[in-house]
Amino acid sequence: MIIAIDGPAASGKGTIARRLATHYGLPHLDTGLLYRAVGAKALENNVDFDDTAALAGIAAALDLAALDAEALKAGPVGEAASKVAAVPEVRAKLLKLQQDFAHQPGGAVLDGRDIGTVIAPDAEVKLFVTATPEARAERRFNELLKRGEEVTLAAVLDDIRRRDARDSGRSSAPLVQAPDAQVLDNTGLDVEGSWQAALALAERARAAAGL
Ligand code: CDP
Repeated sequence: MIIAIDGPAASGKGTIARRLATHYGLPHLDTGLLYRAVGAKALENNVDFDDTAALAGIAAALDLAALDAEALKAGPVGEAASKVAAVPEVRAKLLKLQQDFAHQPGGAVLDGRDIGTVIAPDAEVKLFVTATPEARAERRFNELLKRGEEVTLAAVLDDIRRRDARDSGRSSAPLVQAPDAQVLDNTGLDVEGSWQAALALAERARAAAGL
């Protein structure tokens, strides 16, 4: 069983994906970390975001086992990730790794932007998790505050809007809802409410797929 969770920044898709993976005993891949890792490396090495060959080289050399999820969650890395994620050569280098992860025996849970559309269009369960930009900005703001980062809510909302536009507007694997995905708008829901709603939708999709 492949579970594909897509949605915009700070929609809570990561939490849902992790909990579904635990619930069904499946391995989980947060694909955003791959783009974050490429973005972080580009920042670190002062690579120009227009230098597609250099960015593709970083993507090709990525080691899944060496990703430091905690460090990659820092605010500025998200912006860099969304820039490198718009580069088709970078996406091409990361494609097989994600497809292999999705199609491993027994199945997997993946979350990102293009899992249900590009990486695993054959996924039995597809959720598109979303919320208003304001609700998502507030969640991300609180996360960054807890990390000790100095940010303002207005700056976080700006960042979310900019990334929404870039992720949805790019020509290569844009953020778009798969036609057969179930939409979960969790704007008014807390973490527990969002989880219960996601589980109900996943169970419904499993039943429809005869699982
Ligand atoms: O949770 P948040 O959206 O802040 O970050 P993320 O899911 O870690 O994704 C960071 C960036 O990577 C996004 O803004 C996307 O541009 C990109 N991304 C992508 O293009 N495709 C994916 N499957 C996952 C992430």
